[in-house]
Amino acid sequence: MDEKWMEYLNVSSMKTTTKQEYSPGLAGVIAGESAICWVDPDAGLTYRGYDIHQMAEKSTFEEVVWLLFHGELPTDQQLASLRLEMQRERELPPPVIEMLHLLPKKTHPMDALRTGMSMLSTFDDDLSDLSVEANVRKAIRIIARASTLITDSWRILQGEDLLPSRDDLPHAANFLYRLQGVEPETWKTKMLDTIFVLYADHDFNASTFSARVTASTLADIYAAITSAIGTLKGPLHGGANQESIHMLEQIRTPEDAESWLQEKLAKKEKIMGFGHRVYKTGDSRVPIMRELARDLGKRCGQTHWVPVCEELEKVMWREKQLCANVDLYAAPVFLMLDLPAQLNTPLFACSRVSGWCAHVIEQQKNNRLIRPRSLYTGPAKRDYPME
Ligand code: COA
Repeated sequence: MDEKWMEYLNVSSMKTTTKQEYSPGLAGVIAGESAICWVDPDAGLTYRGYDIHQMAEKSTFEEVVWLLFHGELPTDQQLASLRLEMQRERELPPPVIEMLHLLPKKTHPMDALRTGMSMLSTFDDDLSDLSVEANVRKAIRIIARASTLITDSWRILQGEDLLPSRDDLPHAANFLYRLQGVEPETWKTKMLDTIFVLYADHDFNASTFSARVTASTLADIYAAITSAIGTLKGPLHGGANQESIHMLEQIRTPEDAESWLQEKLAKKEKIMGFGHRVYKTGDSRVPIMRELARDLGKRCGQTHWVPVCEELEKVMWREKQLCANVDLYAAPVFLMLDLPAQLNTPLFACSRVSGWCAHVIEQQKNNRLIRPRSLYTGPAKRDYPME
């Protein structure tokens, strides 16, 4: 009989594989191919080849959504049809709103978003159709409804009445309206829209990777996005922008920044809004977010936040050679836009959901199960005790 077949039949003869090299935290590991977005440690961030600085200045979030999904910028007609579709898909099914009312009032908005996203899957007739066309349809629905889940769950948790969608408003303005109940000024809408453009995608970051892992099992797009929301919540990833604002509120003046920071560093604490797995000399989104914070500071009479952050940047670079990431400046920007700190990470999700969806579509278009190995560090093979 064939030797290999004999080996297969005789499980006890299986050999222990030799230990291999590995990279803790998958640092530096290329875990897949993608044509969506590139984080170049030196040249910065591009979406489908377009530089983030040009995108932030010239495009809108809806244009970015189209670009991420289809690979090219939309024509006027394509953009108009995408906007219309997003408007049409904004409302939540009534049972989802009923479920949001059942959540304890102390629920974190990220948990409400994750729970709501999971529930939305059951109302989508396209759920099990994994074709590109169906995935794009579901993705547009998911982006539109993620925004509503965040605004509606927040208002419900605060005991406030819900507001209907404003079909005349673009995505960012509609978000602010449904959250705050007033039509935002044009500059405010533009600012939130720019933030959405900045946060839309970032290569194989932790939440995107978890979306791709889930999608690679051929689970549906809602399962993948629910995984991603869960992953984004942690303070080493999206949760950092909520933590950053607590830090800045403790410091308050540029003169206090160095002593505060030295004390934390002496205790070996992590400083939120600093460090990045890929960028080692600067996060390309920071200069844009810093200027938004400066502009807002002048408009709101809160010009102290940028100097506080700049002082932190100076000392962190001197002491640890660590640069600020986008979440450092996002925190004061959200604060000055009158957005509650607990919504900082959901706001990130409201935009990043577009990148997650693009990655799920790309993964399932040319799928291979993502299933790495671990380096086993447990006991060697041994016999089960007889007595
Ligand atoms: N504050 C203080 N020290 C930090 C730090 C921070 N924000 N980020 C990294 N370091 C230190 C680590 O302690 C480590 O020091 P050591 O070599 O003396 O142990 C060194 O820098 C390397 O850090 P490491 O944790 O290996 O980097 P990473 O690539 O694994 O982690 C982050 C990247 C983003 C998770 C990490 O920088 C971090 O925790 N930042 C704060 C959270 C944050 O802002 N997240 C949002 C990211 S966009």
